[in-house]
Amino acid sequence: MTAPLRIALAGLGTVGTGVIRLIEENGAMIEQRAGRPIVVSAVSARDRTRDRGIDLSAYPWFDTPAALTEQADVDCVVEMIGGADGTALELARKSLAAGKSFVTANKAMIAHHGMELAKTAEAGNLSLRYEAAVAGGIPVIKGLRDGASANRIERVYGILNGTSNYILTEMEKHGHAFDDVLKEAQAIGYAEADPGFDIDGVDAAHKLAILSALSFGKALDFEGVEIDGIRNIMAADIGQAKALGYRIRLLGMARIDDGKLFQRVNPYLVPESHPLAHIDGATNAVVAEGNFSGRLMFQGAGAGEGPTASAVVADLIDIARGDAGTVFATPASQMEPCERAESGNRVGKSYVRFIVADRPGVLAEITAAMRDADVSIESLIQTEKTSEGSVLLSMVTHDSRECNVLKSLAALSSSASLQAAPVVMHLLSDQD
Ligand SMILES: NC(=O)c1ccc[n+]([C@@H]2O[C@H](COP(=O)([O-])OP(=O)(O)OC[C@H]3O[C@@H](n4cnc5c(N)ncnc54)[C@H](OP(=O)(O)O)[C@@H]3O)[C@@H](O)[C@H]2O)c1
Repeated sequence: MTAPLRIALAGLGTVGTGVIRLIEENGAMIEQRAGRPIVVSAVSARDRTRDRGIDLSAYPWFDTPAALTEQADVDCVVEMIGGADGTALELARKSLAAGKSFVTANKAMIAHHGMELAKTAEAGNLSLRYEAAVAGGIPVIKGLRDGASANRIERVYGILNGTSNYILTEMEKHGHAFDDVLKEAQAIGYAEADPGFDIDGVDAAHKLAILSALSFGKALDFEGVEIDGIRNIMAADIGQAKALGYRIRLLGMARIDDGKLFQRVNPYLVPESHPLAHIDGATNAVVAEGNFSGRLMFQGAGAGEGPTASAVVADLIDIARGDAGTVFATPASQMEPCERAESGNRVGKSYVRFIVADRPGVLAEITAAMRDADVSIESLIQTEKTSEGSVLLSMVTHDSRECNVLKSLAALSSSASLQAAPVVMHLLSDQD
């Protein structure tokens, strides 16, 4: 029999226990496909006494993840702890330094330290795999790194956070307020008790930065992602977008503009004719546009025990087969930093929503500020009284420079007519 691939698992929560279940259930088939068995040689987590719903008695236990890197009978360390730094990063560095391959589901760590880890892995001829870090069970990393590697990718974008997409689609279906839907999502386990990373766009930005690096061959630049989340979206925005033929989705969007890297996570108005408008609930979807392949769309479950474990074990099968290859689509040593594009120069239509005092002259004040900033209004969608007696005023601009839209809002910032900061969303178009 060919020697098994011996793995050590650090972290035995949702993903870690899922990996053990999958290997136990599909082990014989995996052995056939990988050409050799994958065996668990060691495990580690914080609390040895915790009931994890699986029998761990067959697996040697280590109290500290770092100890896994010292075991001679471990070929590959699998990190399912989480966090950009701390224990997970220490484990990644130690594993690679000890000559062990490394598999992770940790988007935060790859987004912040992916370049360093990739260079170390490639220099040591070791595998570093992270399929589960972006869009859970969807094989999008493999799709871009391998399947689409002959293409110049023009832009990559998508719905990268299931929690936000679930909240937006529930608001759309029932017309409920953001806070109420968030509470429901927390009650059924679709949102964390501290939902900030998901609803403020940070989780999507981690994934977007990784997709950009894969797609464009430029150094990973998480700090260059402009981030805005969905906290300020009202049910009325969703209704008004619908009246225009759009649905609101939190999108990660990346492209190279005149040699500069543009990366943004923002709620967008997506035309109903676009496939992303029909991605509902906790589903994720990634679109990549290649210069020869055309539009590719990857869709599926972005999280959960089964889908995430499926992606982790697929990485292990690759390693067992001996596929090393580059970490991103381009060797890390050749991925140069890229200048960041100025988003203000982008031209497109924007949706702007104001909450204003219910008195004459307010609309004239707003339209004058827009005219002075060279922004013309395509449609004033609707005005609607809020329960507090204010008026909700939504409009869509003609194609305008984003910096001019912001300039018009800055001019209004001290106006006594505005009762809340305006909300701006972009309309997805082919130019985005
Ligand atoms: N859950 C998903 O659907 C999903 C999807 C895609 C990617 N991911 C990523 O997968 C990773 C794991 O997520 P998860 O949902 O499985 O997390 P989780 O359920 O919270 O499990 C985390 C595990 O890490 C262990 N751990 C935490 N700190 C540790 C430390 N200092 N030393 C040793 N062990 C430690 C915990 O030990 P104890 O159990 O003893 O406390 C627990 O077993 C994260 O990077 C996450 O972003 C998750």
